[in-house]
Amino acid sequence: VTTETEHAEHTEALGAKLAGGLRPGDVVVVSGDLGSGKTTFVRGACRALGVEGPVTSPTFTIGHVLSGRVEVAHLDLYRLATLEGEDPGLLDDYLTAERIGFVEWPAVGERALPRVVARVTLEHAGGDRRRVSVETE
Ligand SMILES: Nc1ncnc2c1ncn2[C@@H]1O[C@H](COP(=O)(O)OP(=O)(O)OP(=O)(O)O)[C@@H](O)[C@H]1O
Ligand SMILES: [Mg+2]
Repeated sequence: VTTETEHAEHTEALGAKLAGGLRPGDVVVVSGDLGSGKTTFVRGACRALGVEGPVTSPTFTIGHVLSGRVEVAHLDLYRLATLEGEDPGLLDDYLTAERIGFVEWPAVGERALPRVVARVTLEHAGGDRRRVSVETE
């Protein structure tokens, strides 16, 4: 399903809607250019899952673990050019069966990701507009 959003809150609402159908162990990959709204989408999902604190892209680590009604793992693999030479358990440490996972810039880790249940793609569409595509498996 593709939706054109007009502002950040609308993109957050799409994240919240997706979150309603997620269960522990599920992983959602979130792709799109810089500033397209990946973290905004994830923030909306996290709020719906009961996360109250800030939801920002991890910068000094590949991921954050947030507490809501369930634990949420929020990963950003942007700086991880390749998983080669990294500990193969790196992603598994975050994406456990008890947590719901969101992965921004998933490409490098795609083959190592467990149980991807949805793929979200965001595109700039001029000004504050974004084209948000949500595909569930
Ligand atoms: N329709 C919209 N949907 C989402 N974000 C929007 C929209 N309109 C404006 N914005 C703004 O665009 C910015 C998107 O930033 P965000 O950090 O979510 O992007 P990102 O894709 O995660 O970037 P990065 O690649 O750096 O991780 C925010 O400042 C947000 O308020
Ligand atoms: Mg981001």
